[in-house]
Amino acid sequence: MRRYSRITGTGSYLPPRRLSNADLVAELAAKGVETSDEWIVERTGIRARHFAAPEVCSSDLGLEAARRALQAAGALATDIDLIIVATSTPDMVFPSTACILQNKLGANGCAAFDVQAVCSGFIYALTIADAMIRTGAASKALVIGAEVFSRILDFKDRTTCVLFGDGAGAVVLEASDTPGILASDLHADGKHVGILCVPGHVSGGNVLGHPLLKMDGQAVFKLAVGVLDEAARATLAKAGKTAADIDWLIPHQANIRIMRSTARKLKLSMDKVIVTVDQHGNTSAASIPLALDAGVRAGRVKPGQLLLLEGVGGGFTWGAVLLQL
Ligand code: UT7
Repeated sequence: MRRYSRITGTGSYLPPRRLSNADLVAELAAKGVETSDEWIVERTGIRARHFAAPEVCSSDLGLEAARRALQAAGALATDIDLIIVATSTPDMVFPSTACILQNKLGANGCAAFDVQAVCSGFIYALTIADAMIRTGAASKALVIGAEVFSRILDFKDRTTCVLFGDGAGAVVLEASDTPGILASDLHADGKHVGILCVPGHVSGGNVLGHPLLKMDGQAVFKLAVGVLDEAARATLAKAGKTAADIDWLIPHQANIRIMRSTARKLKLSMDKVIVTVDQHGNTSAASIPLALDAGVRAGRVKPGQLLLLEGVGGGFTWGAVLLQL
């Protein structure tokens, strides 16, 4: 009998502090940074984001999302034999956020590690977990995207600080004799490191280099629309499917204009796209599992449906996963 992996539960968590565009515009104005609700909505589709309290880390957000996913799957923390956390805002330089989260969850002993692929992190993590389950290296995995991007934003740079938010999403991925994950497609091109990065690093007890997010938004935008389309088509082709077969496109939530362009290229109506960027902003590796869970809990995304998840981000990294829920 062939061995596959299947999502059996989803969960997500947003920190309680919600800032509407008006709230953020007022906070930035007090610092002499000029922006507006109109600009943010028109250029990005973002209307609000959540920011974690200073003492709250990615592992705390991921823990809540993981607990909800376990509950939805009817699984116990002690059943889990693999935890992968996709994050670019880890709690510490080391150990991994996955190890910290594992201990908080009480799943001690299972394999646990982080994946660093920025906004594509969840797509990378899901692909790795699927491969490990199919080979028999794991049977029941927690795959989590968790971020506190508010920690790495430069609140004097209006071109980036209005775009991002904090949050976490998680899925339980289990071994199954019927296919869940059908195909995936991962890529990276390191020549684009400079267009989206946090260049700083810790050295000799100091931070060397700029420790806040820098982005050439237009360059990222242009690359993103091209590679997302390629990844979507490649993934569909691997599974012998076409865009017309997709029930839901669940893309990385960075900018509504990128999402509209991706949908248009695949000839998909926006009615088939899960959109949370308006309420969450860009939560990097957390955005796809947050959107998936929002769709599931709203009763829109249903068991048996065909979902195309896709992400793009710093590295440059990009990829897609096609799955039957
Ligand atoms: O998660 C990883 C993936 N990241 C992304 O996918 C982000 C991709 N990029 C984008 O989403 C868009 O490029 C942005 C939303 C970042 C920017 O939108 P844009 O339409 O590319 O704007 P722009 O950078 O061309 O800026 C247009 C104008 C500029 O003014 P001038 O030079 O035309 O006078 C900017 O200075 O808008 C100005 N501007 C702002 N104005 C008010 C930039 N940021 C702001 C702001 N408020 N927050």
